[in-house]
Amino acid sequence: MKQLQNNPELIHSAIEEVLRYNGPVEFSTSRWARENLEFKGKSFARGDLVIIALNSANHDPNRFDDPEIFDITRQKSQHLAFGTGIHLCLGAPLARLEGEIAIMSLLKRYPQIKLKVDKNELEWRPGMLVRGVKEIPLSL
Ligand code: HEM
Repeated sequence: MKQLQNNPELIHSAIEEVLRYNGPVEFSTSRWARENLEFKGKSFARGDLVIIALNSANHDPNRFDDPEIFDITRQKSQHLAFGTGIHLCLGAPLARLEGEIAIMSLLKRYPQIKLKVDKNELEWRPGMLVRGVKEIPLSL
């Protein structure tokens, strides 16, 4: 947060890093294998359902240096938070803009903003598709 307040131009890469590190959509939309195939040692039969765990892919050490480090200066991250291919999220530009505006507005208006509870006390919503905590108590 301090790094972003001191360098507001980092907001673009910061939002990309939030999406990569802990994106809110857990899985891609469904795909089905069009033919029998082997991929990375796994067999898929024609018609098998294939779902990509996006947050897992976004922590792939073959793709990202130090994937467990949250680094808002990370460049050209090419994460999969919005999926990929012809079903790439249609709302991605809007979601990015909303994130940038919301976070920067909060930081500017409430420079002292901080979590009111220990981060380990945050309660995660149940469910497989959309990730997020139930509420974020803040002191402004
Ligand atoms: C941070 C916010 C968002 C995230 C992380 C997100 C993520 C995703 C993901 C992962 C997919 C599936 C891509 C795939 O299977 O390859 C998707 C599809 C889609 N998203 Fe989003 N989304 C977000 C916000 C939005 C918003 C704001 C809209 C609309 C205004 C939107 C509209 C859509 C639509 C229409 C699809 C289906 C595209 C298709 O099937 O061709 N999304 N999104």
